[in-house]
Amino acid sequence: MPKSLPIHALGLVALATLPLQAQETDPNLVADHQENGRWVTAEGVPTFKVEEDGTVDWATFSGFRRYHAECHVCHGPDGEGSTYAPALKKSALAMDYYDFIGVVAEGRQKVGAAQNSVMPSFGTNPNVMCYLDDIYTYLKARGAGAVDRGRPAKRADKPPEVAADEDSCMGG
Ligand code: HEC
Repeated sequence: MPKSLPIHALGLVALATLPLQAQETDPNLVADHQENGRWVTAEGVPTFKVEEDGTVDWATFSGFRRYHAECHVCHGPDGEGSTYAPALKKSALAMDYYDFIGVVAEGRQKVGAAQNSVMPSFGTNPNVMCYLDDIYTYLKARGAGAVDRGRPAKRADKPPEVAADEDSCMGG
């Protein structure tokens, strides 16, 4: 039935462009101002900022690296999820920021009849906790469709405030 194809394709295009519109208007996503070298929403929650030429903010780029160092073994590459653990690109949009941070710091275990899945606690791991806002920012950008899979090609420089925070967090 070739006649049904164009309508189907149209639906796909509409779906694919939806996240970009949400990105420009959703107050939970829109980069409103900077705090300590990070883009945040009007409510002060970390968020991403992607320039028109595709340059991503430092936090999104750093989060890409940290996510793939610490989380992707269970949660799959690019925040896509795996058979073992949920797709964090979706969790970053669905969960409240503070709940997201809380689960990573404290861990979580769901014991079911068919499966036993454990989210470890990272609260004492500086390689995660010192970069958690970056990881969250990256996953939010992925969930909103603002960055593609893989390593972002262009990134902003690391803001000096972020470097200073990192030094004190890592105890350096
Ligand atoms: C050893 C495997 C493992 C690693 C490593 C891991 N996770 Fe998880 N994570 C899980 C599992 C399994 C769950 C689901 C737990 C449940 O069902 O309650 C989960 C759940 C979560 C959730 C809740 C998601 C939701 O939608 O409810 C968040 C947030 C999360 N992980 C963040 C992270 C971050 C960030 C990292 C890297 C710093 C990370 N995880 C590394 C296994 C892991």
